[in-house]
Amino acid sequence: MSFHSIEQAPGRLNRSELAIPGSQPQMFEKAAKSDVDVIFLDLEDAVAPDEKEQARKNVIEALNDIDWNTKTMSVRINGLDTHYMYRDVVDLVEQAGERLDLIMIPKVGTASDVYALDMLVTQIEDAMGHKKRIGFEHIIETALGMQNVSEIAAASKRNESLHFGVADYAASTRARSTIIGGVNPHYAVLTDPAEDGGRGVHWGDMWHYALSRMVVAARANGLRPIDGPFGDFSDPDGYRAAARRAAALGCEGKWAIHPSQIALANEVMSPSASEVDRAQRILSAMAEAEANGKGAVSLDGRLIDYASIRQAEVLVQKALQIGA
Ligand code: GLV
Ligand code: MG
Repeated sequence: MSFHSIEQAPGRLNRSELAIPGSQPQMFEKAAKSDVDVIFLDLEDAVAPDEKEQARKNVIEALNDIDWNTKTMSVRINGLDTHYMYRDVVDLVEQAGERLDLIMIPKVGTASDVYALDMLVTQIEDAMGHKKRIGFEHIIETALGMQNVSEIAAASKRNESLHFGVADYAASTRARSTIIGGVNPHYAVLTDPAEDGGRGVHWGDMWHYALSRMVVAARANGLRPIDGPFGDFSDPDGYRAAARRAAALGCEGKWAIHPSQIALANEVMSPSASEVDRAQRILSAMAEAEANGKGAVSLDGRLIDYASIRQAEVLVQKALQIGA
Protein backbone atom coordinates (compact mmCIF):
# COMPACT_ATOMS: atom_id res chain seq x y z
CA MET A 1 0.00 0.00 0.00
CA SER A 2 1.02 3.57 -0.56
CA PHE A 3 1.91 5.66 2.49
CA HIS A 4 -0.89 7.97 1.29
CA SER A 5 -4.09 6.84 2.93
CA ILE A 6 -7.44 7.42 1.26
CA GLU A 7 -10.21 8.90 3.38
CA GLN A 8 -13.54 7.34 2.45
CA ALA A 9 -16.69 9.41 1.92
CA PRO A 10 -19.61 8.62 4.24
CA GLY A 11 -20.76 5.07 3.48
CA ARG A 12 -24.23 5.78 2.12
CA LEU A 13 -26.12 3.12 0.24
CA ASN A 14 -26.31 4.43 -3.33
CA ARG A 15 -27.39 1.46 -5.47
CA SER A 16 -30.21 3.39 -7.10
CA GLU A 17 -30.62 7.15 -7.53
CA LEU A 18 -33.97 8.40 -8.77
CA ALA A 19 -34.25 11.59 -10.81
CA ILE A 20 -37.46 13.58 -10.25
CA PRO A 21 -38.09 16.92 -11.99
CA GLY A 22 -38.63 19.69 -9.44
CA SER A 23 -41.45 20.93 -11.63
CA GLN A 24 -43.46 17.70 -11.11
CA PRO A 25 -44.43 17.80 -7.41
CA GLN A 26 -47.18 15.21 -7.99
CA MET A 27 -44.35 12.63 -8.33
CA PHE A 28 -42.73 13.39 -4.98
CA GLU A 29 -44.89 11.36 -2.56
CA LYS A 30 -44.62 8.20 -4.65
CA ALA A 31 -40.84 8.60 -4.82
CA ALA A 32 -40.69 9.00 -1.04
CA LYS A 33 -42.43 5.63 -0.63
CA SER A 34 -40.31 3.80 -3.22
CA ASP A 35 -37.37 1.47 -2.53
CA VAL A 36 -34.82 3.85 -3.97
CA ASP A 37 -31.65 4.62 -1.98
CA VAL A 38 -31.08 8.23 -3.10
CA ILE A 39 -33.46 10.75 -4.68
CA PHE A 40 -32.35 13.80 -6.56
CA LEU A 41 -34.92 16.50 -7.12
CA ASP A 42 -33.92 18.23 -10.31
CA LEU A 43 -33.73 21.95 -10.94
CA GLU A 44 -31.54 21.60 -14.04
CA ASP A 45 -32.17 19.88 -17.35
CA ALA A 46 -35.60 18.38 -16.65
CA VAL A 47 -36.98 21.84 -15.85
CA ALA A 48 -37.82 24.46 -18.50
CA PRO A 49 -36.48 28.02 -17.95
CA ASP A 50 -39.96 29.42 -17.24
CA GLU A 51 -40.49 26.83 -14.51
CA LYS A 52 -37.15 27.20 -12.72
CA GLU A 53 -38.35 29.48 -9.92
CA GLN A 54 -41.50 27.52 -9.17
CA ALA A 55 -39.51 24.25 -9.25
CA ARG A 56 -37.10 25.67 -6.67
CA LYS A 57 -40.02 26.57 -4.40
CA ASN A 58 -41.59 23.11 -4.88
CA VAL A 59 -38.34 21.41 -3.96
CA ILE A 60 -37.77 23.47 -0.80
CA GLU A 61 -41.35 22.90 0.33
CA ALA A 62 -41.12 19.17 -0.37
CA LEU A 63 -37.81 18.76 1.47
CA ASN A 64 -39.36 20.32 4.54
CA ASP A 65 -42.88 18.86 4.40
CA ILE A 66 -42.71 15.36 2.94
CA ASP A 67 -41.67 12.41 5.06
CA TRP A 68 -38.72 11.08 3.05
CA ASN A 69 -37.97 8.62 5.81
CA THR A 70 -34.31 7.53 5.74
CA LYS A 71 -33.77 8.34 2.08
CA THR A 72 -30.71 10.29 1.12
CA MET A 73 -31.98 13.53 -0.42
CA SER A 74 -30.13 15.45 -3.08
CA VAL A 75 -30.99 18.38 -5.33
CA ARG A 76 -29.43 18.92 -8.75
CA ILE A 77 -28.80 22.65 -8.95
CA ASN A 78 -28.36 24.58 -12.16
CA GLY A 79 -24.91 24.89 -13.72
CA LEU A 80 -22.32 27.40 -12.56
CA ASP A 81 -22.64 29.19 -15.90
CA THR A 82 -26.28 30.14 -15.25
CA HIS A 83 -27.72 32.89 -13.09
CA TYR A 84 -30.09 30.38 -11.48
CA MET A 85 -27.35 28.66 -9.57
CA TYR A 86 -26.57 31.13 -6.81
CA ARG A 87 -30.21 31.43 -5.81
CA ASP A 88 -30.65 27.64 -5.97
CA VAL A 89 -27.85 27.26 -3.45
CA VAL A 90 -28.76 30.17 -1.19
CA ASP A 91 -32.47 29.31 -0.98
CA LEU A 92 -31.94 25.57 -0.63
CA VAL A 93 -29.30 25.73 2.07
CA GLU A 94 -30.99 28.56 3.97
CA GLN A 95 -34.49 27.11 3.81
CA ALA A 96 -33.97 23.33 3.62
CA GLY A 97 -30.34 22.83 4.59
CA GLU A 98 -31.19 20.69 7.63
CA ARG A 99 -32.92 17.99 5.53
CA LEU A 100 -30.81 18.23 2.40
CA ASP A 101 -28.02 15.64 2.40
CA LEU A 102 -26.34 16.31 -0.93
CA ILE A 103 -26.09 18.89 -3.67
CA MET A 104 -25.60 17.52 -7.17
CA ILE A 105 -23.44 19.73 -9.37
CA PRO A 106 -24.03 19.29 -13.11
CA LYS A 107 -21.39 19.82 -15.79
CA VAL A 108 -18.63 20.46 -13.28
CA GLY A 109 -15.53 21.39 -15.25
CA THR A 110 -12.69 22.30 -12.92
CA ALA A 111 -11.60 21.99 -9.31
CA SER A 112 -12.25 25.72 -8.91
CA ASP A 113 -15.95 25.15 -9.70
CA VAL A 114 -16.04 22.89 -6.65
CA TYR A 115 -14.06 25.37 -4.57
CA ALA A 116 -16.46 28.21 -5.41
CA LEU A 117 -19.47 26.17 -4.44
CA ASP A 118 -17.83 24.92 -1.26
CA MET A 119 -17.15 28.51 -0.24
CA LEU A 120 -20.76 29.53 -0.87
CA VAL A 121 -22.28 26.56 0.95
CA THR A 122 -19.87 26.96 3.89
CA GLN A 123 -20.80 30.63 4.33
CA ILE A 124 -24.51 29.87 4.31
CA GLU A 125 -24.20 26.94 6.70
CA ASP A 126 -22.09 29.01 9.08
CA ALA A 127 -24.50 31.95 8.94
CA MET A 128 -27.45 29.64 9.62
CA GLY A 129 -25.62 27.83 12.43
CA HIS A 130 -26.10 24.44 10.73
CA LYS A 131 -24.05 21.66 12.26
CA LYS A 132 -24.63 19.23 9.43
CA ARG A 133 -22.39 19.58 6.38
CA ILE A 134 -24.04 19.02 2.99
CA GLY A 135 -22.09 16.69 0.69
CA PHE A 136 -21.42 17.11 -3.03
CA GLU A 137 -22.10 14.76 -5.90
CA HIS A 138 -20.56 15.76 -9.21
CA ILE A 139 -21.76 14.82 -12.66
CA ILE A 140 -18.82 14.19 -14.96
CA GLU A 141 -20.48 14.95 -18.26
CA THR A 142 -18.27 17.26 -20.27
CA ALA A 143 -14.91 16.83 -21.96
CA LEU A 144 -13.52 19.46 -19.56
CA GLY A 145 -14.90 17.64 -16.51
CA MET A 146 -13.44 14.36 -17.72
CA GLN A 147 -10.07 15.97 -18.41
CA ASN A 148 -10.00 17.36 -14.86
CA VAL A 149 -11.79 14.49 -13.14
CA SER A 150 -8.94 13.71 -10.72
CA GLU A 151 -8.63 17.32 -9.52
CA ILE A 152 -12.41 17.62 -9.21
CA ALA A 153 -12.55 14.44 -7.14
CA ALA A 154 -9.93 15.82 -4.75
CA ALA A 155 -11.27 19.39 -4.59
CA SER A 156 -13.44 19.32 -1.45
CA LYS A 157 -14.00 17.41 1.75
CA ARG A 158 -17.69 17.59 0.90
CA ASN A 159 -17.22 15.38 -2.16
CA GLU A 160 -19.04 12.06 -1.90
CA SER A 161 -19.64 10.71 -5.40
CA LEU A 162 -18.93 11.08 -9.12
CA HIS A 163 -21.69 10.35 -11.66
CA PHE A 164 -21.25 9.60 -15.34
CA GLY A 165 -23.67 11.83 -17.28
CA VAL A 166 -23.64 9.98 -20.54
CA ALA A 167 -26.07 12.23 -22.45
CA ASP A 168 -24.25 15.50 -21.91
CA TYR A 169 -20.91 13.72 -22.24
CA ALA A 170 -21.93 12.54 -25.70
CA ALA A 171 -22.96 16.08 -26.61
CA SER A 172 -19.79 17.62 -25.21
CA THR A 173 -17.46 15.18 -26.97
CA ARG A 174 -19.61 15.45 -30.13
CA ALA A 175 -20.10 11.73 -30.18
CA ARG A 176 -22.26 10.59 -33.12
CA SER A 177 -25.08 9.39 -30.90
CA THR A 178 -28.48 10.65 -29.83
CA ILE A 179 -29.40 7.86 -27.41
CA ILE A 180 -29.04 8.21 -23.62
CA GLY A 181 -26.76 5.39 -22.45
CA GLY A 182 -26.89 1.95 -23.95
CA VAL A 183 -24.99 0.71 -26.96
CA ASN A 184 -24.30 2.13 -30.39
CA PRO A 185 -24.35 -0.19 -33.45
CA HIS A 186 -21.69 1.97 -35.08
CA TYR A 187 -19.26 1.18 -32.26
CA ALA A 188 -18.53 -2.35 -33.41
CA VAL A 189 -15.78 -4.58 -34.74
CA LEU A 190 -16.25 -6.37 -38.04
CA THR A 191 -14.48 -9.74 -38.01
CA ASP A 192 -12.43 -10.99 -40.94
CA PRO A 193 -14.41 -13.26 -43.29
CA ALA A 194 -14.78 -16.85 -42.04
CA GLU A 195 -14.32 -19.80 -44.43
CA ASP A 196 -17.89 -19.46 -45.65
CA GLY A 197 -17.29 -15.75 -46.25
CA GLY A 198 -19.53 -14.72 -43.35
CA ARG A 199 -18.41 -11.84 -41.16
CA GLY A 200 -19.38 -11.26 -37.54
CA VAL A 201 -20.23 -7.91 -36.00
CA HIS A 202 -19.29 -7.54 -32.33
CA TRP A 203 -20.76 -4.52 -30.64
CA GLY A 204 -18.56 -2.74 -28.13
CA ASP A 205 -19.34 -0.38 -25.26
CA MET A 206 -18.42 3.11 -26.40
CA TRP A 207 -18.62 4.43 -22.81
CA HIS A 208 -16.11 1.98 -21.37
CA TYR A 209 -13.11 4.31 -21.26
CA ALA A 210 -15.03 7.27 -19.85
CA LEU A 211 -16.69 5.24 -17.13
CA SER A 212 -13.44 3.49 -16.18
CA ARG A 213 -11.58 6.77 -16.00
CA MET A 214 -14.24 8.22 -13.71
CA VAL A 215 -14.25 5.10 -11.50
CA VAL A 216 -10.49 5.37 -10.98
CA ALA A 217 -10.69 9.07 -10.03
CA ALA A 218 -13.56 8.37 -7.65
CA ARG A 219 -11.92 5.41 -5.91
CA ALA A 220 -8.51 7.10 -5.67
CA ASN A 221 -10.27 9.81 -3.65
CA GLY A 222 -12.57 7.62 -1.55
CA LEU A 223 -15.72 8.60 -3.50
CA ARG A 224 -18.61 6.48 -4.82
CA PRO A 225 -18.65 6.06 -8.61
CA ILE A 226 -22.23 6.03 -9.93
CA ASP A 227 -23.37 5.30 -13.48
CA GLY A 228 -25.85 7.78 -14.94
CA PRO A 229 -29.02 7.49 -17.00
CA PHE A 230 -30.32 4.83 -19.35
CA GLY A 231 -32.99 6.54 -21.38
CA ASP A 232 -34.94 3.61 -22.81
CA PHE A 233 -37.13 2.79 -19.82
CA SER A 234 -39.05 0.20 -21.83
CA ASP A 235 -35.89 -1.94 -22.13
CA PRO A 236 -35.21 -3.52 -18.72
CA ASP A 237 -32.78 -6.05 -20.21
CA GLY A 238 -30.74 -3.28 -21.80
CA TYR A 239 -30.74 -1.41 -18.47
CA ARG A 240 -29.63 -4.51 -16.57
CA ALA A 241 -26.79 -5.14 -19.03
CA ALA A 242 -25.58 -1.52 -18.73
CA ALA A 243 -25.81 -1.66 -14.92
CA ARG A 244 -23.92 -4.95 -14.83
CA ARG A 245 -21.11 -3.51 -16.93
CA ALA A 246 -20.92 -0.50 -14.60
CA ALA A 247 -20.92 -2.73 -11.50
CA ALA A 248 -18.21 -4.94 -13.04
CA LEU A 249 -16.00 -1.84 -13.39
CA GLY A 250 -16.57 -0.75 -9.78
CA CYS A 251 -19.66 1.48 -9.85
CA GLU A 252 -21.84 1.26 -6.74
CA GLY A 253 -25.06 2.46 -8.27
CA LYS A 254 -26.95 3.69 -11.28
CA TRP A 255 -29.55 6.35 -11.93
CA ALA A 256 -33.18 5.54 -12.40
CA ILE A 257 -34.91 7.99 -14.72
CA HIS A 258 -38.15 6.04 -14.32
CA PRO A 259 -39.53 4.29 -11.21
CA SER A 260 -39.37 0.92 -13.01
CA GLN A 261 -35.57 1.18 -13.05
CA ILE A 262 -35.25 1.36 -9.24
CA ALA A 263 -35.71 -2.37 -8.65
CA LEU A 264 -33.36 -3.16 -11.55
CA ALA A 265 -30.62 -0.97 -10.09
CA ASN A 266 -31.07 -2.35 -6.57
CA GLU A 267 -30.95 -5.90 -7.91
CA VAL A 268 -27.83 -5.48 -10.04
CA MET A 269 -25.95 -3.31 -7.53
CA SER A 270 -26.50 -5.76 -4.64
CA PRO A 271 -24.06 -8.68 -4.59
CA SER A 272 -25.94 -11.94 -5.27
CA ALA A 273 -26.20 -14.70 -2.66
CA SER A 274 -23.78 -16.87 -4.65
CA GLU A 275 -21.22 -14.04 -4.92
CA VAL A 276 -21.41 -13.45 -1.16
CA ASP A 277 -21.19 -17.18 -0.50
CA ARG A 278 -18.04 -17.50 -2.61
CA ALA A 279 -16.54 -14.42 -0.94
CA GLN A 280 -17.16 -15.96 2.48
CA ARG A 281 -15.58 -19.24 1.38
CA ILE A 282 -12.53 -17.29 0.17
CA LEU A 283 -12.20 -15.61 3.56
CA SER A 284 -12.48 -18.97 5.39
CA ALA A 285 -10.00 -20.67 3.04
CA MET A 286 -7.51 -17.82 3.45
CA ALA A 287 -7.91 -17.82 7.25
CA GLU A 288 -7.10 -21.53 7.21
CA ALA A 289 -4.17 -20.99 4.82
CA GLU A 290 -2.75 -18.29 7.08
CA ALA A 291 -3.09 -20.54 10.12
CA ASN A 292 -1.01 -23.12 8.21
CA GLY A 293 1.62 -20.54 7.29
CA LYS A 294 0.56 -20.26 3.63
CA GLY A 295 -0.12 -17.07 1.64
CA ALA A 296 -1.68 -18.61 -1.46
CA VAL A 297 -3.88 -21.70 -1.83
CA SER A 298 -6.38 -23.06 -4.30
CA LEU A 299 -10.16 -22.91 -3.97
CA ASP A 300 -12.41 -24.66 -6.51
CA GLY A 301 -9.35 -25.20 -8.72
CA ARG A 302 -8.38 -21.50 -8.74
CA LEU A 303 -5.57 -19.59 -7.09
CA ILE A 304 -6.46 -17.27 -4.23
CA ASP A 305 -4.09 -15.12 -2.19
CA TYR A 306 -4.09 -12.01 0.01
CA ALA A 307 -5.53 -9.88 -2.81
CA SER A 308 -8.49 -12.30 -2.84
CA ILE A 309 -9.16 -11.38 0.80
CA ARG A 310 -9.46 -7.72 -0.14
CA GLN A 311 -11.73 -8.52 -3.11
CA ALA A 312 -13.93 -10.77 -0.97
CA GLU A 313 -14.16 -8.20 1.82
CA VAL A 314 -15.58 -5.62 -0.62
CA LEU A 315 -18.49 -7.95 -1.40
CA VAL A 316 -19.09 -9.09 2.17
CA GLN A 317 -19.06 -5.51 3.48
CA LYS A 318 -21.49 -4.40 0.78
CA ALA A 319 -23.85 -7.27 1.68
CA LEU A 320 -23.66 -6.30 5.36
CA GLN A 321 -24.40 -2.65 4.52
CA ILE A 322 -27.46 -3.65 2.48
CA GLY A 323 -28.63 -6.00 5.23
CA ALA A 324 -28.35 -3.20 7.78
C1 GLV B 1 -27.09 13.52 -17.15
O1 GLV B 1 -27.22 14.59 -16.68
C2 GLV B 1 -26.66 13.30 -18.47
O2 GLV B 1 -26.40 14.31 -19.16
O3 GLV B 1 -26.55 12.14 -18.90
MG1 MG C 1 -26.63 16.15 -18.03
